[in-house]
Amino acid sequence: MNLSDARPPQFELPYEFPGAIWYGQEELEAVEKVIQRRSPFRYYGPDCLHETRAFEQEFGQWLSRITGNVPEPSDPLYVTAVNSGTGALEVALDALGVGVGDEVIVPGFMWVSTISAVIRSRAIPVLIDSDDTLGLDPKCLEKTITARTKVVIVVPMLGGVPRMAQIMAEIRRINAQRRSSGLEPVRVLEDAAQALGAFAHGIPGSVIPQGPEGSHKVGTFGDVGTFSLQINKSISSGEGGMIVTRDPALHRRIEALHNAGYAPHPQTPKDWYGDVPVGWGHGRRMSELQAAVARVQLGRLDKILSHMRSSHDRLESHLQSLGIRTRVRADAKQPGDTGYYCVFDLPNPNSSEATRIELGREMATYLGDYPLRPWYLHDFEVHVYYNIEPLVSKHPLPDGGPWGYPGNAFHHAYQYEKGSLPYLDERLTSSLGFNVPSQLNAEQEKAIKEVLTAMFYRFYAPAKARASI
Ligand SMILES: Cc1ncc(COP(=O)(O)O)c(C=O)c1O
Repeated sequence: MNLSDARPPQFELPYEFPGAIWYGQEELEAVEKVIQRRSPFRYYGPDCLHETRAFEQEFGQWLSRITGNVPEPSDPLYVTAVNSGTGALEVALDALGVGVGDEVIVPGFMWVSTISAVIRSRAIPVLIDSDDTLGLDPKCLEKTITARTKVVIVVPMLGGVPRMAQIMAEIRRINAQRRSSGLEPVRVLEDAAQALGAFAHGIPGSVIPQGPEGSHKVGTFGDVGTFSLQINKSISSGEGGMIVTRDPALHRRIEALHNAGYAPHPQTPKDWYGDVPVGWGHGRRMSELQAAVARVQLGRLDKILSHMRSSHDRLESHLQSLGIRTRVRADAKQPGDTGYYCVFDLPNPNSSEATRIELGREMATYLGDYPLRPWYLHDFEVHVYYNIEPLVSKHPLPDGGPWGYPGNAFHHAYQYEKGSLPYLDERLTSSLGFNVPSQLNAEQEKAIKEVLTAMFYRFYAPAKARASI
């Protein structure tokens, strides 16, 4: 048998999701406390613990922590807990005033909720290409932003980090130009559902700097950041979402809109759902049961991140030692990724698209024989714009919107078929990845490395040998 046919033996990995695998006695006790008090609702009950309010405070403190020897941003972070990441996006876009006639810029690599939230806001999603980090390419902002652009959504994918410093600097530059032309500034929404805990170097603020230059957590650079606590995320309460902002007026709208549409009176609040109507609200409150679990999980987050990052970096180094190109990081010296996913290139970068697609699928099947949960990114379901059929076909809401509204007639200029984002298409066609569990032991890491080595001999070495003939 030659090396390219050798297959390492099977091994077992826990079927894990980063936060939920760490569930233990503390989560049980937290839930039990809420149940014993018979007070699962955040605002009142016979003996309410106010777990949700405490979680909002702790989440804000955790997210505000920045690394390096720089002062903390002077503006506090306001936090609203909601019941999902999708809900967080919908409330945030509503609070930003997005509606008919607006364009919202969205990367082509995201999750379908990022797009559906825009559509449900009655606005038109406009795709923007990615760079080699697989995040939004700051060089594409100038040509994609128009007078109708209301919001740019940045989506740090798979625990990775886009070039945040350049993105925010470019937005501030464009907003300064817009101001001199009498246009409203574009706002930045970070959909950080997949990247709780990731950090990037840069300066927050979409109009003026809103904090010192330094390493800030992803989700705190823009006008508003959203997170998810669904099972696939860094920590989990099963369902859950968070919305953060440094803008007190925006926070007031978010607070009101997530809870029936009424804001508390600023001086003399009378009622739990608010006193002053600010719009038609959503039903997006987080429950005390979710918050109780999420608080315990937040206490575990540093440990989860540290485990994932170290395993990720060792597995990535192993791929690099085999000569396999891995995903480019915005900051090679201090990558702020969560370590949730390891992404690398297929062999044969110069082969045709059809050949690469066939190979990518074959490699995903090869790795899928082991408990690695691999994905060929070209086929990564509704994380990829051209795989979202209702987007490609401009499937309407029941009332015909958003495409059918006269105020959105400009949508004819925008298409969503494969080929719309050439660089992202090329990267996804050339990239494979797998989940990095947060509880790997040395033996399991060794077994994964052996599978990656065998994959190299099966798929990469023959290509190299052919190329050298
Ligand atoms: C990038 C992104 N945005 C939004 C969401 C939606 O979050 P949720 O599932 O909590 O509604 C997800 C969840 O998978 C996501 O990955």
